Amino acid sequence: MARYTHGHHESVLRSHRWRTAENSAGYLLPVLRRGMTVLDVGCGPATITADLARLVAGPAGPATDPTSAGADSGRGADAADAGVDSGRGADAADGGADSGRGAGRADGGVGPAGRGRVTALELTPEALATGSAEVAASGLGNVDLLVADAHALPFPDDRFDVVHAHQVLQHVADPVRMLTELRRVCRPGGHVAVRDSDYAAFAWHPRLPELDDWLALYRRLARANGGEPDAGRRLLSWAQQAGFTEVTATSSTWCFATPADRAWWGGMWADRVTRSAVADQARAAGVTDRELRRLADGWRAWADSDDGWLSVLHGEVLARP
Ligand SMILES: C[S@@+](CC[C@H](N)C(=O)[O-])C[C@H]1O[C@@H](n2cnc3c(N)ncnc32)[C@H](O)[C@@H]1O
Repeated sequence: MARYTHGHHESVLRSHRWRTAENSAGYLLPVLRRGMTVLDVGCGPATITADLARLVAGPAGPATDPTSAGADSGRGADAADAGVDSGRGADAADGGADSGRGAGRADGGVGPAGRGRVTALELTPEALATGSAEVAASGLGNVDLLVADAHALPFPDDRFDVVHAHQVLQHVADPVRMLTELRRVCRPGGHVAVRDSDYAAFAWHPRLPELDDWLALYRRLARANGGEPDAGRRLLSWAQQAGFTEVTATSSTWCFATPADRAWWGGMWADRVTRSAVADQARAAGVTDRELRRLADGWRAWADSDDGWLSVLHGEVLARP
C-alpha cells in the first residue's frame, strides 16, 4: 500500500478545504442530476463531497445550479438553496433523462427513498473524521461516510450512478486497480470521474531556485511513498488499462495570481514544507531543517512578488463503464 504523502496537518487541510465542486469538478457538473447516487472516493475534508450532495439532493431531476449550491464560494452554502429540502424544485417528471447521456432516471427511484445521496469514503478513521465534521456542519442529510480502501471497495457491482475521485489516484499504489474498482461499482451508463494534478507541469513566475528544489523534493518523496506525482497526464492511459473504452480526457487548471491568492497558496506551502507530513518525510530522507526553511522562504518570496503567478495543471477523465 502506498503511503499518503501529504498527511492531514492543518496546513494540508487548509488547501483541501478551499476546494469546491466548481473549482475542482467542473468537468463532472454537466452530467449531475438530482436523485443520483454518487460515490466520492478519498473524500478528505469533504468540501467537494458536500457540494456534490447539494447538487444531487432530491428526487430525480436536473441538478441545481452549482452557484446556488454554494459551489462558487464553497463554504457556508445554505443547504436549502441547494434543493436539499426535498420540496425544492424536484420535478421527477423530467427525470434527468433528457440529456440522452443516461445521466438520470425518469422513475425518480434513484437512491434510498428516491433522493440523491452521496457516499464518501476515506482510508482511515482519522482521515474520515475531517470529512465527517464538514458534513455535520453542513447540515446535509444525504451523505453517508465510511472507511474503505479504494483498491477494494465494499460495494456490489453497478451500485452508483457516478463514481468520483479527486486527487486520489496520484497517491495510491495501483491506480489501474483502483480505476477497475471504480468501474465495477458504477452502473452501466453511469460515469466515473477522476481528476489529478500533474506536478511536473506546475508552472510559475518568477523563476526561483527554491521552488525548483521544492518540486524536485516533493516528486522524490511522493514516488518513494509509492505514488505518482505526475498523474494528470497518465489518467487516460490508466483508464484504458482499466478497461474503459468510452473516455473523455480533458484538462483544467487552478491559477493563483492575486496578492490574496499568492499569500494563501505560498503561505500554505511554506507551512506544509516545514510542518506537515511532507516535512517529516523529508527529514527522514536526510533533508535538514535549514534546507526546509530555505524552501519555505522561497514560497514566501514568490507570494511577495508583485508579478507572482502559478498554475496547477490537472488531467481529468470522464468515463462510461
Ligand atoms: C489529496 S487528498 C484529496 C481529498 C479530496 N478528494 C479533495 O480533493 O479535497 C487525497 C485523499 O485520498 C485519501 N486516500 C489515499 N489513498 C487512499 C485509498 N487507498 N483509499 C481511499 N482513500 C485514499 C487520502 O487519505 C486523502 O484524504
